[in-house]
Parts: sequence; structure tokens; C-alpha cells
Amino acid sequence: MFDIERFLEEKLNPVFKGYYAIWVYWWPLWRRITRRDILRKWQQTNLVREGCTFLDYGCGTGAFTIPAAKIVGTRGKVYALDYFPRQLEIVKEELQKEGLANLETILSNQETGLPDESIDVIWMCDVLHEIKERRAVLEELHRVLRKEGTLAFYDGMKEKVLNYTNGLFSLTEKEGKLFKFAKIT
Ligand SMILES: C[S@@+](CC[C@H](N)C(=O)[O-])C[C@H]1O[C@@H](n2cnc3c(N)ncnc32)[C@H](O)[C@@H]1O
Repeated sequence: MFDIERFLEEKLNPVFKGYYAIWVYWWPLWRRITRRDILRKWQQTNLVREGCTFLDYGCGTGAFTIPAAKIVGTRGKVYALDYFPRQLEIVKEELQKEGLANLETILSNQETGLPDESIDVIWMCDVLHEIKERRAVLEELHRVLRKEGTLAFYDGMKEKVLNYTNGLFSLTEKEGKLFKFAKIT
């Protein structure tokens, strides 16, 4: 069982903890401005569709989780995963405000607890660069992604994401900082 309190004590230094305390307040404001362009890219590339299952890995305060829940609708399902409990609380508050019932939160830093090949779209926006065990996380994402599914990154790492996807995912599309991958089976 993932022990979040122990994780914070063992893995994060006080500076990083402080950064995150501030982060939950300023990041949503920043994201409200910057997400417009990213959501436009979703539309242009038809990334999220009605009825699909969507995993927002490192969802933060839900800037993309909530729009995804609206798009996938009642026939679809959204999973919002993050390792910071406060982030997930904010997502749940937004969920209630919007009256959405097709979303579940997952508190974890790696394992999703989801069944094999159960997800159509995995979204990682500005997360990969923060993850220490990148390869292990990507192996878990490979396990849960459906054969025809899509893994999409939007990350400042840009081409460097390719250093971690080798043998697991193959690049299918690239549009600025948006990288889409198919599962290698
Ligand atoms: C820069 S924020 C981006 C949040 C959101 N994706 C967005 O674009 O608004 C990075 C998020 O990744 C989460 N994160 C970092 N490492 C993680 C890990 N190993 N597992 C789960 N979440 C992680 C952080 O807690 C934080 O919420």
C-alpha cells in the first residue's frame, strides 16, 4: 500500500515541499491561461473522444482532468492520479462544482491500481520531468494502456521523452511540445 506521508518525508526535501505548498495556489492561475492552447491541440489532433477512458497522470489541480471528464461524458471515465493529496482534494472540489460523476482520483507516485489494457488515452502534462523513476512509471502506463490506445505527453523535456519510451511506446505524432505515442506490443 502506498504511504503518502512516508513518501513525503523520505523522498522530498523541505525546499521541494515548500515549493509544492505555494504551487497549489499559483499553478492553477498560470494554467488557466496556458491550458487554452493545449486544449486547442487536443481538438486539432482529436486526442480525447466521447466515451473513452482517460488517465490524467500527474493531474495536479485538474486543469485537464475536468475538461476531459466533460468530453468523455457519461459513457466514458476519467482517472486523475497525483501523489499530492491536496491536488486531488482540489480536483474533487471542482468535480462537485461541475456536477461530474465520471471521475475517480488515485493517490500514487507510480502504480495506478488499474486493470491491464483498460485505458484509451494517457495524458501527462508537465509531469515527466518531475518523476524520478521515469522508466518504472512508463512501464506501468504501458501495462494499463489498451493496444490501440494513445500515450500523450506535453512536456518541456520535448524530444528527451524519447529516452524513456524506447521499447514500450513508438512515436506517432509530434506537434510542438505535444508528443503522441502508440503502445508497442
Ligand atoms: C507541474 S504539475 C502539472 C500538473 C498538471 N498536469 C497540469 O499540467 O496542470 C506536475 C504534477 O505532477 C505530479 N507528480 C510529480 N511526480 C509524480 C509521480 N511520480 N507520480 C504522480 N504524480 C506526480 C505533481 O504532484 C504535480 O501535481
